[in-house]
Amino acid sequence: MERPGRPAPVAPRAAADAPHPDPAPPGGTEPLLGDDDTVDIAGDEAQARVSATLDRLDAELVGLANAKRRVREIASLLLVDRARRRFGLETSRPTLHMSFTGPPGTGKTTVGLRMAEILHDLGYIRKPTVHVVTRDDLVGQFIGHTAPRTKEAIARAAGGILFIDEAYYLVRPENERDYGQEVIEVLLQEMESGRDSLVVVFAGYADRMATFFAANPGLSSRVPHHITFEEYTAEELGQIAELMLAEERFRFDDAARAAFAEYIEKRMTQPRFSNARSIRNAIERSRLRQARRLVEEGRPLTKHDLMTITEEDVRGSSVFAAAVAGPAGGGAGDG
Ligand SMILES: Nc1ncnc2c1ncn2[C@@H]1O[C@H](COP(=O)(O)OP(=O)(O)OP(=O)(O)O)[C@@H](O)[C@H]1O
Ligand SMILES: [Mg+2]
Repeated sequence: MERPGRPAPVAPRAAADAPHPDPAPPGGTEPLLGDDDTVDIAGDEAQARVSATLDRLDAELVGLANAKRRVREIASLLLVDRARRRFGLETSRPTLHMSFTGPPGTGKTTVGLRMAEILHDLGYIRKPTVHVVTRDDLVGQFIGHTAPRTKEAIARAAGGILFIDEAYYLVRPENERDYGQEVIEVLLQEMESGRDSLVVVFAGYADRMATFFAANPGLSSRVPHHITFEEYTAEELGQIAELMLAEERFRFDDAARAAFAEYIEKRMTQPRFSNARSIRNAIERSRLRQARRLVEEGRPLTKHDLMTITEEDVRGSSVFAAAVAGPAGGGAGDG
C-alpha cells in the first residue's frame, strides 16, 4: 500500500485473471498527511458520489430500513479506511463478503447492484458489476469439471461482485459425492486471497442459509456482513407499486389505487407470493389490460388516457376472480 487512498495493488496471478489494470481510484496522488493535519471525509470526492448513490437507494427503494442502514455502515467503514490511509495508517483491506437473506422479491438482487456501485465508488472493487450465478453455473456434471467452472465464474465476476443466488443449493449434504463441496473449496481459496477485489454475496432464504452456513463454518467465518431482508408490509407494497408506475410514466386514478390496495391484501395470502416481484407482475398485467381497453374503446386518446390505469384495469386480475370462485378457482399467480 504505497499510496494513500488507493487499495493495495494486487499482483495478478495469471494475465487472464486480470485483463484490465486497476483504474486509479480517486484521491490516489495526495502526499501523506502529518500528525497535526485533519482530514475532512465530506471533502473526499468519493463521498459525494457515494452519498448520491445512497440517496438514490433511499428514494428509489421503499422500506428496507435494515439493508439501507447496513449499506451505509459499509460505506462509512470504507470512507474511514480511506481517511486513515491518507495518514499512512495501514489497515488490512476490510473483508466485505456478505450474505443477503430474505424471502423472494424483497430486493436482494436490487440491493446487490447498488452495493456494487457503492463499493466501486469507494475504490474497493474495480468495476460496478454483479455477476449472478446459481449452483448450475458452478457445479460440473463430471469429475474434474467443477473447479474449472467455478474458476471461470470467479474470473468473470473478478473486480466486481459474485452474487450466488440460492447459495444453499451448493451443498447437498445427503449426497456424499456432491461436487458442490468443491465449489466451496475453490471459493474459499479465492475469498481468502482477496486477490482482484472480488466480493462474494451469498443470497437466499434465511432459514436455509442459516443451515448452509452452519454446515460450512470455514465459509461462514469469512462472511462478516449479514444483511436480512424482510417481507414488505401491504402499505410498502402499495408504495412500491406507485414507484414502479411512476418510473414508467403511468399512474393509478383514485379508484384504481383503492382497488390495487385490495389486490395486494388478497395476493399476499395466496401461494407463490413474492413481494415486490408480484407487484411488478401485477402492474405489467394491469398495463396489458389498459392497452386492450384503450384499443377496444377506439376513440381519440389524451395523454391522461395513456398514462392512467383505471379500476377496471386492476380488477380484471384473476386474483379478484379467484375470490369469487373460491379457493379452487385459480389461486396462485400474479395475474
Ligand atoms: N424496496 C423496493 N422498492 C422498489 N422496488 C423494489 C423494492 N424491492 C424490490 N423491488 C423490485 O422488485 C423486483 C424484485 O426484486 P429483487 O429481484 O431485488 O428481489 P430478490 O430479493 O432478489 O428476489 P429473489 O429472492 O426471488 O431473487 C425488482 O423488479 C425490484 O426492482
Ligand atoms: Mg434475486
